This record gives sequence, structure tokens and C-alpha cells, in this order.
Amino acid sequence: MVVYIILLTLVTTHHCVAATDKLNPPSPDKATTLTYPHMQKKNDFARVKPTATCGMREDGKTPWLVIIKDLSKSQNTSTAILQGSIGGGTLIHPSVVLCAAHSAQSPAPQLQVLTGLAGGAGDNVQMWSVIETVLHENFNPMNAHNDIALLFLSEPMKLSRSLGVACLPPADAAPRARCEAYEWSQTGTDGHRGVKTVDVPVLNHQECQEKYRNTRLGRYFILDQSFMCAGGERGRDVCAGDGGFPLVCPAENGRVAQFGIVVWDIECGNHGNPSVYVNVTRFRGWIDRQIGSRGLDTTIYALEQ
Ligand SMILES: *[C@@H]1O[C@H](CO)[C@@H](O)[C@H](O)[C@H]1NC(C)=O
Ligand SMILES: *[C@@H]1O[C@H](CO)[C@@H](O)[C@H](O)[C@H]1NC(C)=O
Repeated sequence: MVVYIILLTLVTTHHCVAATDKLNPPSPDKATTLTYPHMQKKNDFARVKPTATCGMREDGKTPWLVIIKDLSKSQNTSTAILQGSIGGGTLIHPSVVLCAAHSAQSPAPQLQVLTGLAGGAGDNVQMWSVIETVLHENFNPMNAHNDIALLFLSEPMKLSRSLGVACLPPADAAPRARCEAYEWSQTGTDGHRGVKTVDVPVLNHQECQEKYRNTRLGRYFILDQSFMCAGGERGRDVCAGDGGFPLVCPAENGRVAQFGIVVWDIECGNHGNPSVYVNVTRFRGWIDRQIGSRGLDTTIYALEQ
């Protein structure tokens, strides 16, 4: 059986965040200097207090949302800042972005990460270079199974109120019944686009597979175990253009944790089909191993800390 799915990638032509004057590309020499201030002696990790609390939001802003851009797809880096956008992502460590593998397939030097876009055009947009991309070894670009990747940045960000990290839930955590997805939308009368949150229900694996068996995917459709589903309420869902953005769910102390990464859907928002996400808890061990093996602190994004 041939399964047709639509991988969600950012539709760059509709983005017009005009913040070029605030563009702050890293200087070329920084790209070769690797400094990780959070890195202590390896054995000290357990005692290092994270410099920022993950998953905190102020004023409804989501300081960990990023846009991934492929420089080879933007003819002009100086004019439209979002030209060449290939997906969204989440900052989970001052120098690591969690994203969908389908938006991390270009060689690292071609990729850039934009921060400061979540709050709309008024934010301070910054660009960061990527030095290494790590795609999940079982990622299958044909059917998007295991569609998860990490981007390692050339320098760690200085975290602040407007630049923060998301929390990841423990591997055995279950999401709440309703969570929050993100979509690009018009945020103001000025016509600028920004990120809007959408309240969505979480479906269990069986329910989701049933829904998709009633679509053109057919009654033998198998929803891969690397996926989870949320959404499907009419007029309230994420759509093409939101690929790579997180699904976050409420956690303790007013924090939120990322349970999903938007991957695909069919006829989004209109026909009751939920959106399909990477099930992030399933990959928590993989994420920790990749980050830990590069000598970086894996407690920064840990909700259980
Ligand atoms: C690229 O930028 C230059 C100068 O900023 C401009 O003259 C040119 O028209 C731009 N090209 C495209 C394809 O946007
Ligand atoms: C995500 O994967 C874990 C581990 O396989 C599983 O226990 C959990 O039910 C999945 N979550 C959802 C929402 O499907």
C-alpha cells in the first residue's frame, strides 16, 4: 500500500516579519569557537544548578520557539528574513534545537536558526549558525517515521526572559487531555505574522489510527509507534506551515513540557483529522544520549529536575 502524507513545512511566501534592521548574524569567527559556559567537569553535572528554569513563559510568549532556515533556499539573506524557512523547532538547551528530521536534512553549514520571532515583529530577531545536525538513525523520509533531529549551534545562547528553553517530560510521562499547539497567524492589524497558540485535545494511538483509517489512507493504515496525535476539532488545529513546532502540555509549577513535534496531517482543520506529531517522550533517552555524549548538560531541559 502506498501511503500519501503531507509533510508540513513552512510556507515561506506568506511570512513577512520585517525585522531585518534587528538582524544580528553571528560573526564568522564565533562559528569556530566552541564554548559552553554551562559545561562543568563532567562529574559535577548532578550538582550544577541550571541557569534558567525550562518551560517558563511570561506574557504568553514562548521564548523557546525557533525557525529553521536553509540558506541555500533563500536567494537573499538580507531582504526577507524568513525566506528559506524550512520548519520550526524548539530550543531545549542554550546550544541545542529539537526539530523534525525532515527539516534538518541539509548540511549543517547551510542551516540557520532564528530566535525572537514568537512574540511577533517587535521582538529582537537573531540568527544562529548550526555546526552539527543529528538525525535519528531510523528516520525514514518516505513515511516520516522517527522524524526527530537535533541541531547543535556554534555558540550557546545567553538565556533571558525572551530567550528560554522548553522542558522535556520524563520518558514515562503522559500528556494532559488538552495541550497547546502553535500556528503561524496574523497577529496584528499591521499585517505581520507571528505565532498563535491553539488549544487541542490529545488522542490516544488507537483513536488516532481509527480516524486515519477512515480517510484515503484506508482501513489498513498503521499509525507508526513513533507518532502521537492531537487536534482534529473543526477550525482549531495546526496546519501546513506549522511543521516542526512543538506540542506543549501543562506541567507542575506553571511550567509546560514538550510532548510532540508537528509532522503531518491530512486536510488540516477541516475534516476532523488530528495532526500527527513525533511522540517526544519515546525519544527522551535518544535525546539525552546525543546531548550528553557531546559533553552538554542534560538537566537544563529536564522537567523532573
Ligand atoms: C537581493 O538583495 C538585493 C540588495 O539588497 C536586491 O537588489 C535584489 O533585488 C534582491 N534579490 C532578490 C531575488 O530578492
Ligand atoms: C508515546 O510513547 C510512549 C512510549 O512508547 C507511550 O507510552 C505513550 O502512550 C505515547 N504517547 C501518546 C500520546 O501516544
